[in-house]
Amino acid sequence: MDKHDFRKYAHRVADWMADYYENIEAYPVRSQVKPGEIISQLPDLPPPKPENMETILDDVDKIIMPGITHWQNPNFFAYFPANTSYPSILAEMMTSALGSQCMVWETSPAAAELEEKVMSWLKKMTGIPETFEGVIQDTASTSTLVAVLSAREKKSKNSVNNAGFTGNLYRVYCSTEAHSSVEKAVKIAGIGRQNLRKIEVDENLSMKAEMLEETILSDIQEGFIPLCVVAALGTTGTAAMDPLMDISEICRKNDVWLHVDAAYAGSAFVLEEQRYLLKGIENADSYVFNPHKWMFTNFDCSAFFVKDREQLISTFEILPEYLKTRPDSQVNNYRDWGIQLGRRFRALKLWFVIREMGVEGIKQKIANHIKWANELAGEIRKTPGFELLEPQNLALVCFSLSKKSGVSMEDHNARTMDFLHRLNSSGKVYLSHTKVNEKVFLRMQIGQTSVTEKHVRDAWNFIKSESQIKI
Ligand SMILES: Cc1ncc(COP(=O)(O)O)c(C=O)c1O
Repeated sequence: MDKHDFRKYAHRVADWMADYYENIEAYPVRSQVKPGEIISQLPDLPPPKPENMETILDDVDKIIMPGITHWQNPNFFAYFPANTSYPSILAEMMTSALGSQCMVWETSPAAAELEEKVMSWLKKMTGIPETFEGVIQDTASTSTLVAVLSAREKKSKNSVNNAGFTGNLYRVYCSTEAHSSVEKAVKIAGIGRQNLRKIEVDENLSMKAEMLEETILSDIQEGFIPLCVVAALGTTGTAAMDPLMDISEICRKNDVWLHVDAAYAGSAFVLEEQRYLLKGIENADSYVFNPHKWMFTNFDCSAFFVKDREQLISTFEILPEYLKTRPDSQVNNYRDWGIQLGRRFRALKLWFVIREMGVEGIKQKIANHIKWANELAGEIRKTPGFELLEPQNLALVCFSLSKKSGVSMEDHNARTMDFLHRLNSSGKVYLSHTKVNEKVFLRMQIGQTSVTEKHVRDAWNFIKSESQIKI
């Protein structure tokens, strides 16, 4: 492709994107293809000769689009949002045009300095204490792994990095509701899955702080070394909140690294009225939330904050001759703040989003999402045939069909899953599910960038009408 064709097709692709957003509600929210349907349309061998761009773009519409699940469709209510926005998309286009590899300051000073600034903005925007320093990681899973590795090196005085494990007595703690990325981090960090202690939750699905304390004390008595607690603000299943203040006190008393996973909920802390949940954060060692979930910024963009920047850097720093640069002592070289060397220029999209929407614009959207979720919960509470999971947290609503008396839990769950399948197969809405005390609940999160009150109302009316159909 030459520069003339690049200009021509860049305009074509920009129009394609704008058309896509204009017509996004015409697509089934969840892709309706069957397994193998896409791959069977793709040739076994790569093209030996250049292909025409027109043909490639046609194939996107014909082959690829039917296999896309439309996360940006306002009727997308599944999982947590991975929302984006127009300013974020524009920044991603520019990032890809720049193609910068932002591993050290010198390889793109603007990327490093903009990252430092937008992370500082995020602290101010969401009530994270100034004692933390931020860096953008790809995902919350990586951020949690970075936290566990930093905790390991702090406790071992960098000896695991140097000599490897010489016997492992470390223990990590999270609630039974914590995200699977904690278990993954513990496996990768060499701590071992059996040294992850999953603490019981209370009726709100929040970690029982007294059980955490008991478990830590009994581990110490048995000769184990408590390393890290991962507290969740907004669990994946139900957005439940662990009692951060109590947990932070236990961590402080027992010299345990506290990492807080607020992957989803962190965006809600732009709202001062939600910040009571953050009480205790000042005692944490690290914290993560994902602007790529609920802050209108394209995946991937995970905001990781750490109190002891020197510990973080000493955990990851490695300095071969070929990476040394003159300004090293005066700048942030983010390659030393995480796992990978190569880094995308992710700060640009966050900068575009925060500037184009303004903090007020971001607050307004998130406040609306929470309000509509609260109103939907109110509707569900008073609708016969449905059961709301209480408490309802932030903009996530979990509900089930009422369990009929005499029906086993297994049959009830099968009926609920069939119902979910029917909703999602309609292409009109997309919800996901979770299980609480053996019972399946549908999860409906309201967080898509362009979702309106009407989308929520229409979706609920559709869900109600589908629940009347006898099968
Ligand atoms: C509470 C929580 N933590 C961590 C994650 C993992 O996020 P990521 O995909 O950024 O690794 C999720 C994903 O939904 C989550 O809900």
